[in-house]
Amino acid sequence: MSRRSVVIGTGSALPDLRVTNHELAARGIDTSHDWIVARTGIEARHFAGDGETTATLATEAARKALAAAGLPAEKIGLIVLATATPDQTFPASATRVQTALGIDDCIAFDVSAVCTGFLYALSIADNMVKGGMADYALVIGAETFSRILDWEDRATCVLFGDGAGALILQAQDTEDRGILATKLHADGRHNDLLFVDGGVSTTGTVGKLRMKGKEVFRHAVVNLADVLTETLTAAGHKAEEVDWVVPHQANKRILDATAKKLGLDPARVIVTVDQHANTSAASVPLALDVAVRDGRVKKNDLIVLEAMGGGFTWGAAVLRY
Ligand code: UT7
Repeated sequence: MSRRSVVIGTGSALPDLRVTNHELAARGIDTSHDWIVARTGIEARHFAGDGETTATLATEAARKALAAAGLPAEKIGLIVLATATPDQTFPASATRVQTALGIDDCIAFDVSAVCTGFLYALSIADNMVKGGMADYALVIGAETFSRILDWEDRATCVLFGDGAGALILQAQDTEDRGILATKLHADGRHNDLLFVDGGVSTTGTVGKLRMKGKEVFRHAVVNLADVLTETLTAAGHKAEEVDWVVPHQANKRILDATAKKLGLDPARVIVTVDQHANTSAASVPLALDVAVRDGRVKKNDLIVLEAMGGGFTWGAAVLRY
């Protein structure tokens, strides 16, 4: 028996406004439903409206995760919020979530690793829980990428959406449940392939998202296949034992190519990119919550989470649900 972080609840939140590909084209963007579906698998995404922010979406997802766990908010000792689109440059959006949940005192901070943010946040929280710094942790991925999209750039503005996903970790003494392994990577030499062209310390502006899509795509399949294999090996499991893969939702073609490279059954891959588009750090916990709530993910299932994004950063986690 060892002290492990076990997932005891999940939740997610989407902005009210849902925008289809047809509606994007009707807004004057030089694109088509057919192009977006053929190249990405995306059919619709949600955009935050007035009053909806990364922290409000994160709070809604957190409330649902707490309700699913049957846990009062004051039990939470640690909040790690992954986001590249915080409400303010500082303080951390995690502290806004903490206040909204009515938690007087806990550890709360944001993590910035773009689309891999949730895997970084989960790995940090897992190690802090295992190290005894908290018995209950709230791990969130939340984004409002619509606020950093360049609507003149059709190659990027059709790809992203807003949302949040959350899960609750509980420290338990267990043999084989909970998070079994996490692996994280970064390679800053690829900074200029996916970035925001502004920043506090450079331009003094927020900036807009820029991406060389083809290059990112090429790296994504290789890096994801490698880190999945590495993490499964560390957890002592094989690809064929996996019940569900919950990947970062950037492009249906990346999901298919990665599954094929590893010999994973495509029916075992949770896909939400069609309805949510790419929600960056929110995409993995959002997809996990969808699959938990529709009954696909069940207790004791072996699950692999994976993501790749700006930096580049990439990572994976293996857990027994
Ligand atoms: O979350 C972090 C990870 N991000 C990713 O993993 C994204 C990875 N990259 C991708 O998913 C794909 O590269 C994209 C979906 C971004 C692009 O697909 P692609 O097959 O690589 O297309 P492309 O960029 O090579 O563009 C092909 C054509 C171009 O026209 P020409 O030059 O062939 O005439 C583009 O101008 O498609 C055109 N195009 C569009 N056409 C209609 C680009 N965007 C659009 C659009 N609508 N929205």
